[in-house]
Amino acid sequence: MPCSSLLFGCGYAALFGCGYAALGGELVLITLSHMSKTYRRRIDRILRRHGLLGTARLALERGLFYLELALYPPRRAARRAFWRRMLTYDAEFDRAHGVDTAGIVSLDTLEVVGSHRIEGVTYRGCDPVLFRERIAALGIDFPQYTFIDLGCGKGRTLLIAAQFPFRQVRGVEFAPDLLAVAEKNIAVDRGPRRCCDVRADLADAAEYPIPDGPLVVFMHNPFDGAVMDRVLANLARSYREQRRDIWIVYWVGSAGKPVVAAFLAALFDQHVFARVADTPEGPVFRAT
Ligand SMILES: C[S@@+](CC[C@H](N)C(=O)[O-])C[C@H]1O[C@@H](n2cnc3c(N)ncnc32)[C@H](O)[C@@H]1O
Repeated sequence: MPCSSLLFGCGYAALFGCGYAALGGELVLITLSHMSKTYRRRIDRILRRHGLLGTARLALERGLFYLELALYPPRRAARRAFWRRMLTYDAEFDRAHGVDTAGIVSLDTLEVVGSHRIEGVTYRGCDPVLFRERIAALGIDFPQYTFIDLGCGKGRTLLIAAQFPFRQVRGVEFAPDLLAVAEKNIAVDRGPRRCCDVRADLADAAEYPIPDGPLVVFMHNPFDGAVMDRVLANLARSYREQRRDIWIVYWVGSAGKPVVAAFLAALFDQHVFARVADTPEGPVFRAT
């Protein structure tokens, strides 16, 4: 990295006092004088969970990651390409299906059920083309499996999963406003359907009872920390109670390395899931 970029980086960090830190899977701008109530609560929780040193280490790790993202030209270009691509696929998907799944919706102003708003990640739909490819690549006998999107937002993945002959397609969303959009989308979708049992439920993913039978569980960077631990523990418990094929398809979104690292750490604690594929969009696991 050229010296000027490095100097610019240092000046930037100094200007904001403590610079950028990505806590809880999102980029959070921490200024000493202006921290929203939501972020203050999130930081309190992270401090309680990781202690002072652990939080400082996390902030440094993620701060460096985002600094590199902001300053290193190939990463900057990749990020710009990502946003351009997102605007295009958002519009194309909604036009083709006659639905509303586009845009970014912050959770700060939304009601949610349960007590895990702080760990929740802003809504954005995943890339429909890549998602369809990932599901097709599983090569499973679809009619045996239930697809579940934990944190389904406006339900884009449910509409695409329903193009495969899954036994059931289920979405779980904790924000009633997003759930209402997902339900309307399921009702008006013009896309082809090979699964007739498609539904979105209002629930906190941490409390969601894991369905019986073989599963494909999808998570597009929906939450972090305590919720992720709870969800993975629930999945592991459900698997121990009923041994069956369970896939976890994890989607990184625009969040990048730190989130995946946290996810992997939590998952490997469960001793049940083995990583069977690594894709640019995220890892795929299978219960062993
Ligand atoms: C990045 S969006 C992913 C949307 C969708 N899965 C997709 O890929 O198109 C994350 C979603 O997870 C939801 N979410 C976050 N925490 C949740 C929780 N504890 N329970 C249920 N949904 C949650 C958010 O409201 C948001 O809609």
